[in-house]
Amino acid sequence: MRDYFLPSKANPVKILIVDDDANVRSILAQHLSHENCACITSENAFDALNKIKHTDFSLVISDVMMPGMAGTELLRFIKRQDSATSVIMITGVLDIGTAVDCLRLGACDYITKPFNLPVVRRAVDRALEQRQLLIENQYYQQELEKKVREQLGKLNGALKEVEESYKITLEAITTALDAREHETQAHSQRVREFTLTLARQLGLEGEDLVHAGRGALLHDVGKIGVPDSILLKPAKLTVEEWVEMKKHPQIGYDILLPIKFLSPAAEIVLSHQERWDGKGYPNGLGGTDIPLGARIFAAVDTMDAMLSNRPYRKALPIEAVTEELRRFSGTQFDPQVVEAFLSIPCETWLSIHESVTLLYKSQEFQDLLCRK
Ligand SMILES: [Fe+2]
Repeated sequence: MRDYFLPSKANPVKILIVDDDANVRSILAQHLSHENCACITSENAFDALNKIKHTDFSLVISDVMMPGMAGTELLRFIKRQDSATSVIMITGVLDIGTAVDCLRLGACDYITKPFNLPVVRRAVDRALEQRQLLIENQYYQQELEKKVREQLGKLNGALKEVEESYKITLEAITTALDAREHETQAHSQRVREFTLTLARQLGLEGEDLVHAGRGALLHDVGKIGVPDSILLKPAKLTVEEWVEMKKHPQIGYDILLPIKFLSPAAEIVLSHQERWDGKGYPNGLGGTDIPLGARIFAAVDTMDAMLSNRPYRKALPIEAVTEELRRFSGTQFDPQVVEAFLSIPCETWLSIHESVTLLYKSQEFQDLLCRK
């Protein structure tokens, strides 16, 4: 889009007069020139084209019948180059068909010779007024678009800041959890990545995908409310201790629900220990009553536990994971989720597990956490 400037004294109106008759050129130029209006003449359309390439004319007054290129062709070219340039056509032959063609091609007036100079003057004034209006409209539209762009830029900046503060909040929560129960941060990040991969495979996108990822990342946030004596107990939990431990999905839900950007993820946190057959906790939900994000999480959480070393056993191979998910499809896990899981190559899961684990063990990452 070209830049439009409002005309001023420093920027006088330029009129190009194109006619093969020297008398017509001279009479029109003399009559139309004044202190704010400069007239330039061309004796044919080719010379006019050359001048138009180098100068911005407000108005072109062109003869229709000229040797070489006709005025209608010139009109077509002018309108293609800049539709805001006004064009008045002049002809010695009154031909309604040509007049209609010229107006259809964008001419603003059509005058026949011999012309009456006051009539030409009125036509020129009208054409310049119309052009002025058009330019003013385009100018204000341009200004408006500029303002909208500026506001959009500011809005995007603010949104980025909000995004950044979301990220910092999430990192702060997972770091706090990790301070109590080591390896939690790497585990949370792994199940987040696994969840995002599986959720995409199941067709989730946009906000749903974001919430599924956050739900997985924060699934155990409620363990903040579980006493150390239970959470860090190196032996098996008693029945009473299990009752306490099983409160963590509800505690997590209560923590996240009031935080607006995390409230959709809170639903996943509340249901992350539910089972497809309804034998999970805290609410014994079954089937599709369990949010999809939580059903996805249940599968990937099992995978992460099996692929990771435990104090009492070494990490298990991925084949053991696929076997486990197959075996408990339809009881512990959603069969559709298991099917989607199996359609993703084992190498993908192993590569996610390895890369996130390495990242969280790296000195560079630990230093980064300390600096924050
Ligand atoms: Fe949990």
